[in-house]
Parts: sequence; structure tokens; C-alpha cells
Amino acid sequence: METQTKQILQNALKEIEDAKSKQDLFALNTKYLGKTGEISNLMRELKNVPVEEKPKMGAILNECRQKIDAEIREKIQKFDEEELNKKLMNEKIDVTIPVKPKNMGTMHPISLTQKELMDFFVKRGFTVRVGTDVETDYYCFEALNVPKDHPARDMQDTFYITDDIVLRTHTSATQIHTMEKYKPPIKMVSTGQAYRVDEIDATHSPFFHQLEILVVDENVSMADLKGTVEEFIKYLLGEKTTVRLRPSYFPFTEPSVEADASCPKCGGKGCSLCKGCGWIEVLGCGMVNPKILAEHNIDPKKYAGYAVGVGIERLAMIRFGISDMRELYENDVNLLKQFK
Ligand code: DAH
Repeated sequence: METQTKQILQNALKEIEDAKSKQDLFALNTKYLGKTGEISNLMRELKNVPVEEKPKMGAILNECRQKIDAEIREKIQKFDEEELNKKLMNEKIDVTIPVKPKNMGTMHPISLTQKELMDFFVKRGFTVRVGTDVETDYYCFEALNVPKDHPARDMQDTFYITDDIVLRTHTSATQIHTMEKYKPPIKMVSTGQAYRVDEIDATHSPFFHQLEILVVDENVSMADLKGTVEEFIKYLLGEKTTVRLRPSYFPFTEPSVEADASCPKCGGKGCSLCKGCGWIEVLGCGMVNPKILAEHNIDPKKYAGYAVGVGIERLAMIRFGISDMRELYENDVNLLKQFK
């Protein structure tokens, strides 16, 4: 039996050595160590061995069994390691390969214009205020000196959520919120959407963007207003741009003016962008109506203010030579990707 065992061990070790895969090894495990495997069979035959030889034979068989088991396990581990290494080699990342250029988006011309204007004012010490699209009638009209029956409401007719809650027709409502919360000196800028009952055409939309500027301090005059307006329009549209102020009317400013920029496309000669007149209206502004200052406990004898409301779409159109406002809302990627 001892020789038989040694022979089995020898065969097993040889076969383990020759095994080509884990499957082979599993099969060998069954062949030698399984329930009806060769070693197990010999174990069963131990009962026929003379009593005095039993312990020795038992030990030999056990040793043989342990040896085969250890060899099989070791080889399985070897195969596992090889498999892992192969996988790691195949999945190796070459960090030196150049990155494929990603198709990065660009900023929308409206966002770009808003951002540049905000940058201009923030650099000059203005505080950014955030308004809300939904406003009460009070902040949108009444507090800006536009009572319920005022004719100016027609020009700025908006969308009513209830009799008293509206989609703001202008960012000017932020002026009131600011004056309620802060005392002069005030230097604020705010931008966002505004809504108006307007037919959609090349220069009108019921949804558009504005930028509001409010300055209240001692010794503020029309000259400050004019200087600020000229400076930021030239900053945005180029140094060659000229700015024209025309008398106008807004209930919340006194005096009120509108500003036109010279058409950058034709330089003032007249073209399709400026509809032949050489000028394009870009904003409304004026000196804050003293009545509004007084209503917010700001002494109009001591303080004065100027306010400006800028049409962002207009400026973006002039800047980028877009003659139809609808193009700004169509999200045509070929148009949008030109602006960086
Ligand atoms: N809110 C006005 C509009 O939407 C524009 C405007 C005019 C704003 C004069 C102002 C201002 O701040 O002073 O038509």
C-alpha cells in the first residue's frame, strides 16, 4: 500500500505540474481527493491493513493528501495571479496619449453681454442685487410712481398672476427693494429677465433681459449719469461708438432720457441693423424722482440718484451684428458657437 501511495503521489504531482488551466486542476482535485478519488479509496482500504501498520499508513496517506492539496492550491493561485497580471497589462492606460478635444459649449450672447456688463460695474464698486421674476404690483409699478390708472402702464402691460402679482415688466423693481433695505451711498447693479405683452418680431419679445443700475449719494448729478452711460457703452461696443441722449419720460425719473448708440455696423450712415437711422436705442435712464427717494426716507435735499435700465438683447444684437432678435432665442448651435 505504501508503494501504491507513493506512486499515486508521484503521478499526481506530475499531472499537477502538467496542468494547463484551473479547470485541469479542479479535475485533478476530484480525481485524487474527491469522495471516490484515489486517495480517498486508499483511506477506505486502511481498515484492511494490519493493526500495527495502521498508524504509519494513516500518516503516510494523510501526508500524501496534504501534499496533493497544497500543490493544487498553489498552482490555482499561480493561475489566478497570471490572469490578473494579463488583465492589468491589457487595461494599462497610457497617460501620454493626447486628450481628444472636447466639444465645449460657448456662452450665449445674452449671458455673455450680461456677464461683461456686470464685470464692468463690479470692478467699479457696485454691489450686485438679485431680483425676482415674480413681483407684486407695488414694487413693479406703484412704488415707482406708476399708480393703477397711470397711462405709462399701457406701454408696460405685463402678465398678471393675480390682480396684485405680476411677472415684472422691468428690473427697476430692484431699485425699490434696494432703497428699502439700504441707506445711501447706494451703488447697485442687477440683471435678469423681464416680461411684457408684446408681439414677437425682429425687435420685440414678451420675454427679454435687462440690467438695472442705481446710484444714490450726495452730489450725484446728470453729469455722473452721462459719464457712466457713455463709459459702459463704449466699453461694450467699442471706443468709436458715440452716445446720444434724448429727452424722454419715465414716471420714476425726473428728468428722464433715453440713450442711443451710434450703429457700429454702418458707423451712423444707416443700414439694416439700425433700420436706416444710424442710431440704436439701448437704454432708458434719468435722475431718480425725488418723490421716490422721500418715500424711502432718503432726504432729497441731501441726496440725489440716477438710475438706468438697459436692454440686454439690444446690446447683444448691436455687438454681434444680429439683426433679428428671434435668432437669440432659437438656440441654433451654428449661430451660438460663434460667440466666445
Ligand atoms: N424700466 C424702464 C423700461 O423698462 C427702463 C428705465 C428707464 C429704467 C429709466 C430706469 C430708468 O432705471 O431710470 O422701459
